[in-house]
Amino acid sequence: MPTWNADQYLKFEDERTQPCRDLVARVSLPHVWKAIDLGCGPGNSTKVLAERWSDAQITGLDDSPSMIEEARREQPQHHWIVQDITHWAEKPSSETFDLVFSNAALQWVPDHASLFPKLFARVATGGAFAVQIPCNLNAPAHESMREISPGMRVREWHAHTSDFYYDLLVPYSTRLNMWETEYIHVLPNAEAIVEWYKGSGLRPFLESFDTDSDRAQFLAEYLKRIRAVYPPRPDGNVLFSFRRLFWVAYR
Ligand SMILES: C[S@@+](CC[C@H](N)C(=O)[O-])C[C@H]1O[C@@H](n2cnc3c(N)ncnc32)[C@H](O)[C@@H]1O
Repeated sequence: MPTWNADQYLKFEDERTQPCRDLVARVSLPHVWKAIDLGCGPGNSTKVLAERWSDAQITGLDDSPSMIEEARREQPQHHWIVQDITHWAEKPSSETFDLVFSNAALQWVPDHASLFPKLFARVATGGAFAVQIPCNLNAPAHESMREISPGMRVREWHAHTSDFYYDLLVPYSTRLNMWETEYIHVLPNAEAIVEWYKGSGLRPFLESFDTDSDRAQFLAEYLKRIRAVYPPRPDGNVLFSFRRLFWVAYR
């Protein structure tokens, strides 16, 4: 059964961390003493927070023990918690953070309408809730997953439009900045796109198979589709477009 795998995820560390750097660059706070990185994975996003706010007390939270183990090994100076984001949000606590941050993780967590006000409640007055989630569920890479798995009951990412998040967050915010960016990753071949998604979006599909041979067959069919929809450029590389939604909501 595939689980979160830090090595697989970090095969594309630069590409996956760039949106985090872009989000951090847009957080405009006079100081950050305390920050929490929700769905911190192997700690790549947490490291970006620590570079920007070197005096801050930083907590990384993730429900994957293997991701937290990798993060703790690399950055023992921070506080690491293995916990589900929903459980963390629902646990009564008066502890607040100048920055509640999440890069590329909240799309895995259901029921944003009820969850996000609870996450916002953990932002200190004057602080910020800064988030990036993918918004490319209609991209050919995702359509291909669905096309080759008709009838398969897979709950893909939880992601809504910017209107949904605006309406949800604006009542709590003194200022709300939102934007989308389409990253065009230059990858060496179609196989690299499959490798990328084996570390993230393909996981729910792969987990639904009982046997390795079924998984291998699914991956072979997926690669065939990906080769067709992401043809090589004349230099042999493929262009992998990936659209992402960002916001910084200030309390
Ligand atoms: C795509 S990785 C993002 C890692 C990192 N934040 C980054 O910027 O690259 C998503 C992470 O969210 C974590 N995650 C998914 N659902 C979660 C949940 N309900 N509670 C806590 N962590 C969760 C996964 O274990 C994984 O490490």
